[in-house]
Amino acid sequence: MALGTCRAVLVTGCNRGIGLGLVRGFLARSPSPDLVIATCRHPDQAQELQHLKKQHQNLRVLQLDILCENSIKKATQETEALVGEQGLNCLINNAGINRIATLDSVTAQDMLALYETNTVAQLMVSKAFLPLLRKAAYQDVVMGIHRAAIINVSSQSASMQLFSQNKKSEEVYPYRIAKTALNMITCCLAADLISDGILCMSLEPGWVKTDMGGSKAPLQLKEIIPGILNVLANVREKDHGAFLNWKGEVVPW
Ligand SMILES: NC(=O)c1ccc[n+]([C@@H]2O[C@H](COP(=O)([O-])OP(=O)(O)OC[C@H]3O[C@@H](n4cnc5c(N)ncnc54)[C@H](OP(=O)(O)O)[C@@H]3O)[C@@H](O)[C@H]2O)c1
Repeated sequence: MALGTCRAVLVTGCNRGIGLGLVRGFLARSPSPDLVIATCRHPDQAQELQHLKKQHQNLRVLQLDILCENSIKKATQETEALVGEQGLNCLINNAGINRIATLDSVTAQDMLALYETNTVAQLMVSKAFLPLLRKAAYQDVVMGIHRAAIINVSSQSASMQLFSQNKKSEEVYPYRIAKTALNMITCCLAADLISDGILCMSLEPGWVKTDMGGSKAPLQLKEIIPGILNVLANVREKDHGAFLNWKGEVVPW
């Protein structure tokens, strides 16, 4: 299915990394969504987004700091004005942070900071955009991003089952714990939003070269972005509540 049938998509954390890659990917698809809403903390400083905006009439850049209640409220209102009665089809909770922390070095502050950004904020952003997703969901019957979807960008490191196979904490205590909790948010949202027809899933983007992924990452954005966009274009009811990777394979919880 063409991604163009997804009328309006909103991505968080779009000034760099995977978020920027997703925005570029959505804009390059033919047909492209009618509205690609790229959000970031500092739109004025997001030079690549501003450059893309000059080239693509369907791109809007909105300020959104996922930790700030007022910013979430304002971005929701601005999005509502953009999407109107047709609502928002797809929310991609991509923004996230990492901190290297071993068992020896991890602090309560690290744990709380990562939980706040990678878990709590994702739920608050999803809650805020829910009315707009519901509006879009009323207008179709087949589940998918063309109708209404919440995609939580998670990580393979959050998988309890994969961890039990290799048992290495890999110096990312707070990150993997917060992402495991994010996966539970996906499960809870999936249970609560099935009756609304809003598809909810966790997505593992692969270990990719970005500021977070680092230079040792084996994958590049140009490999994973087309993969992710294909996965998103094809998710349906069977994928509701699933944890999929950028190739569309199931990641065990
Ligand atoms: N790269 C990987 O290998 C990998 C693997 C698995 C999962 N992931 C996940 O993929 C997502 C994107 O990662 P990435 O590699 O693109 O990371 P990145 O290059 O570090 O980019 C992170 C993005 O999140 C934004 N962000 C952080 N805190 C924010 C906040 N409070 N409000 C709004 N935006 C905020 C950043 O904005 P600022 O520039 O303003 O800080 C930036 O745009 C994350 O959820 C990450 O956990 C990445």
